[in-house]
Amino acid sequence: MTFRDAIILPGRAEVEPSAIDVHTRVTKKHHLNIPFVSSPMDTVTESEMAIAVARQGGLGVVHRNCSTDEQVEMTKRVKRAEALIIRDVITVAPEDTVGQALALMEKHSISGLPVVEKTRLVGIVTGRDVRFAQASLLVKQVMTKEVVKADEGTSIEEAKRLLRDHKIEKLPIVNKTGELAGLITFKDILLRGKYPEAARDENGQLLCAAAVSPFDLDRAKKLDEHADILVTDVSHFHNDNVFKATKKLMSEVSAEIIVGNIGTYQAAEDAIAELEGISGFRVGIGSGSICTTTEVTKAGSPTLFATAQVADAVAKYAADIPIIADGGIRTAGDVAIALTAGASAVMIGNLLARCRESPGTLITIGGRYYKQYRGMGSQTARAKRYSLDRYSMPSKGVPEGVEGWVPYKGEVSILLDELVSGLKASMGYAGARSIEELWHKARLAALSPSGADEAKPHDILLPSESQEV
Ligand code: XMP
Repeated sequence: MTFRDAIILPGRAEVEPSAIDVHTRVTKKHHLNIPFVSSPMDTVTESEMAIAVARQGGLGVVHRNCSTDEQVEMTKRVKRAEALIIRDVITVAPEDTVGQALALMEKHSISGLPVVEKTRLVGIVTGRDVRFAQASLLVKQVMTKEVVKADEGTSIEEAKRLLRDHKIEKLPIVNKTGELAGLITFKDILLRGKYPEAARDENGQLLCAAAVSPFDLDRAKKLDEHADILVTDVSHFHNDNVFKATKKLMSEVSAEIIVGNIGTYQAAEDAIAELEGISGFRVGIGSGSICTTTEVTKAGSPTLFATAQVADAVAKYAADIPIIADGGIRTAGDVAIALTAGASAVMIGNLLARCRESPGTLITIGGRYYKQYRGMGSQTARAKRYSLDRYSMPSKGVPEGVEGWVPYKGEVSILLDELVSGLKASMGYAGARSIEELWHKARLAALSPSGADEAKPHDILLPSESQEV
């Protein structure tokens, strides 16, 4: 069964679509406000995409087809994009030069730096203080010494008042001994109001996940310091060596771990039995729009089928492990079907690659805009080497993905708004008020080929087709 073969049977609806709730859980501990996860692919998720998706309430998984440092940097950028209180504050010392302060501001795209002597707050410098000063001057010569600051434990309301009253943009937080303990910025307060549905951690920072290979412990440990969730990026997770490596990985990191990809009841059963501490399952093999795995190998597990299989195993063992249905999502209806089959969220590559925030190049073909999109098992992605072990042990010398272009869509927020509206409409037909109700109440039926044909517009000449006549 694939998404094309199923249909949601209409059920008794007690609420209107506008009252439907699409909150969900993506791991045991982490909640999302919309059930969407961006795929760890190098034409889909770098920091800009992860930030955009998290601001809409979903989750970005930063890809790993780059050096460890690059992936760590991307993850840090997401975590630093917003915070209630910034804890890892970038600072300068009084003896540093204005040039050094300016370089730091530029590198991190920030407009001011607390000045600390060892750990004690002694001043603050802003862009205005340094921009027109000589680069060789010392920070202590240009900094503001009378810093408006607040004590640890100050409420956000109080912080807002201080920022407003003093017409300042940054409020350092100090502990009892005068050491810098954090920073509250006006920008963060504004962003909180602008993205009320964002998926955030307990510090108000955007949630962020990162892809890892179970065989690259060093990378996973470095990412563990920043990412909330690690996602194993293996095309066939149900493999003895992968299980062994993941067991070790789980004992060495503290982030929650989503494992996958898997596609069968047996794989889920073995993982539940042999790996303690799984926080989520990533399911589906070969359904991705750029996948050639099944075409090349005749092996695979379509995402809908895989979701149903894994959901059965999770239910049988009362395992409380959220499922992410990965690959093949083309419409909001596909999302609804995946969730009905037991998923808590869907992972998307193709639709998100179309958006402004994806890293792919924007090009024009025949007067229309397109973005580049490629499978992580495609020839050119594999040439970058880092993600090779997702598909390629030395014996697996064949590409398992293709590359090409997808039509440009615009901002991620437009796409996700459309998908959420469509999903709510589907849930309305199913008569489900929440994703949990969808699992229990909604029913799927098989669609015959003629049923699928009848479901599309028919017996009418559409404007898009009229030019071909
Ligand atoms: P969509 O349909 O959203 O699917 O484009 C994205 C998912 O496809 C998987 N993926 C691949 N599968 N060969 C494959 O067989 C590849 O080269 C490849 N690259 C990505 C992956 O699970 C992703 O989330």
